Amino acid sequence: MSHVALRSLLRFASLSSLPEPARSSVRVAGRLRLNPQEAEDERALDAFRQRLAAMDREVPVVDYGAGTGAGEKPPVRRLSEVYRRAATGPAWGRFLYGLARAMRPTRVLELGTNLGVGAATLAMALARTEAEGGPAGRVVTLEGAPAYAEVARQSLAEMGLSERARVVVGAFVDSLPDVLDGEGPFDLVFIDGHHEEAAARTYVHAIRPALSSGALVILDDVEPGRPVRRAWRSLAEEADGSAWLGKYGLLVYR
Ligand SMILES: C[S@@+](CC[C@H](N)C(=O)[O-])C[C@H]1O[C@@H](n2cnc3c(N)ncnc32)[C@H](O)[C@@H]1O
Repeated sequence: MSHVALRSLLRFASLSSLPEPARSSVRVAGRLRLNPQEAEDERALDAFRQRLAAMDREVPVVDYGAGTGAGEKPPVRRLSEVYRRAATGPAWGRFLYGLARAMRPTRVLELGTNLGVGAATLAMALARTEAEGGPAGRVVTLEGAPAYAEVARQSLAEMGLSERARVVVGAFVDSLPDVLDGEGPFDLVFIDGHHEEAAARTYVHAIRPALSSGALVILDDVEPGRPVRRAWRSLAEEADGSAWLGKYGLLVYR
């Protein structure tokens, strides 16, 4: 989606059932405006995207349940293809960056690191906020595919973001409990992996006790007809506020 299309989608999104300060943060982020320092961060993120788009090494595809038939070699995929299929795009990336800038969270959790685009975006926003005298925010991001996680780790290190964003490798079901025990409370959560209805509900219910008051949870993949949309709709009934932004479903908990 282009920046222009996303800006108009976000301008008309109904935010009336989001409580403050989440509503104002989403409103500000939705303008997709960057000051000169923020534009510098975006250039670094664009360069990172270009490096990913040029990676032609093949890595194993990790399967989270369907399994490979006996004797079949696990499938492989080029990293450039992984990037193209799964990474957060530039327009939504600018929205995430703006949201993290506006909210000034201390603890951010991401489910689904992939190659690190979302984590780097969020980490850069937190670094920029700290450089301006704001809180020292940190990201913890979970990824089940070791080869993807390794690319993310290396890339975050190259961008000087290793201290800012920690990549945890393992299936969410295995890695999430320890992260929730040891690293919360979280102010901002981005659930961008395992796009199934029951899974999304389970993760949000597991994360709920580890949220700070007023925390914002973003569920990716909630377009009409998608399984996560059904999860978001039922979770929205239990939450203290919600909004639908087309691709992202938001939930706020007090
Ligand atoms: C859409 S991508 C994430 C994109 C990333 N958040 C970004 O902003 O660029 C989803 C990732 O979640 C991982 N994933 C999916 N299901 C998982 C599970 N059950 N446990 C761990 N990782 C999982 C996949 O390997 C994939 O890399």
